[in-house]
Amino acid sequence: MSADLSNTFHDELQSLKDLSGLVQLRVKYLGKKGILTAELKSLSSLPAEERKAAGKRVNDLKNLIESELDAKEASLKAEALKAQLLSESIDISLPGKSAGFGRQHPLSRVMSEIADIFVKMGFSIEEGPEVELDKYNFELLNIPKDHPARDMQDTFYVSDEIVLRTHTSPVQVRVMQRQKPPLRFIAPGRVYRCDADITHSPMFHQIEGLMIDRDITFSNLKAVLRTFVHQMFGADTAVRFRPSFFPFTEPSAEIDIGCFLCKQAGCRVCKSTGWLEVLGAGMVNPAVLENVGYDPDEYSGFAFGMGIERIAMLKYAIDDIRLFFDNDARFLRQF
Ligand code: DAH
Repeated sequence: MSADLSNTFHDELQSLKDLSGLVQLRVKYLGKKGILTAELKSLSSLPAEERKAAGKRVNDLKNLIESELDAKEASLKAEALKAQLLSESIDISLPGKSAGFGRQHPLSRVMSEIADIFVKMGFSIEEGPEVELDKYNFELLNIPKDHPARDMQDTFYVSDEIVLRTHTSPVQVRVMQRQKPPLRFIAPGRVYRCDADITHSPMFHQIEGLMIDRDITFSNLKAVLRTFVHQMFGADTAVRFRPSFFPFTEPSAEIDIGCFLCKQAGCRVCKSTGWLEVLGAGMVNPAVLENVGYDPDEYSGFAFGMGIERIAMLKYAIDDIRLFFDNDARFLRQF
C-alpha cells in the first residue's frame, strides 16, 4: 500500500512543471483531506499489534513526501528566478544608440549675431505681441487707412481692429508710450504677411531698432548702421544710403551693402548691380513722436528695420526661404 503510494507520488512529483502544480500536490497528499491524513486516521481501525509498525510507515512516508515537496519547491523557485533574470538581462555587448547633437537654427544664429552687435553698442532688447492692434501696427506709425500695406492681400486680419503684426515697428510705439527718452533698443521677433514664394514666407523674422534722445541726427543713424554692417559683413564692406520712403520716418533711406558674393563685380544674387539691399531706416517722423506724447522740438531719433531671413539667405547664399522652415536635418546640419 505505502510502496504504491510512494511510487504514485514520485511519478506525480516528476511530472510537475510549476509552483502552482506543486501547491496542488501538497494539498492532495498532506492537506486536511489529503491522502496521508486519511491514512493516519485509518490507523485507529487496525488491530493494536499492527498499529505501531503501520504508524511508523505512514509517518516515514509523510516525512519523505514533505521533504521531497520542499526540495522540489526550492528547485522550482530557483528555476523560475533564473528564467526571470535571463529574460530581464541586458546585453552589455550591444553597440549603444547615439543621441545625436542638436545645433542652433541658422535663423536663430543670425538673429543672435545681429543682436550681439547692437547690444555692444548699448542697445537693449525689447519685445512686443505678435497679435497686435491695428492702432500700433499702422495708425500710430503714421500709416494711413488707404496705405497699400493695409490691404487684405498683405495683412492677416484677426478682426477689424486686430492684425498679426506685419512688421516689428509697432514695438517702437509700445516702448515709447511707456518710457521717456533716452531710448536705445532693438526688437527682434516674428512677423506675418499673406505672401508666399521662394523669397517670401507668411511668417518671417525682423529686427527693429530705435534710438531717441536730444540732438540725434542722421549722422548718428549712419554711424550706427555702418558699424553694424562692418561688424556683420566685414570691415571692408561698402555701404550705400539710398533715399526711400516709409510713413513712420522722414527722411527715409534704404541701406545697400556691396555684394560680398561677387565683390561687386555683378552676379545672380545682386542681379548684376553689385549691391544688396539689407535694411530700411530713417529719422523718426515727428508725427510718430507726437502720437506717443514726445515733443518733436525736444527729441529726435532714428529707426531701422531688417528681415532676418533675407540677411541669412545672403550670408549663406540660400536661394529658397522655405528651406528654413522645412526642418530637414540635412539642411540644418550645414550651419
Ligand atoms: N517696418 C519696415 C518694413 O517692414 C522696415 C522699416 C523701415 C523699419 C524703416 C523701420 C524703418 O524702423 O525706419 O518694411
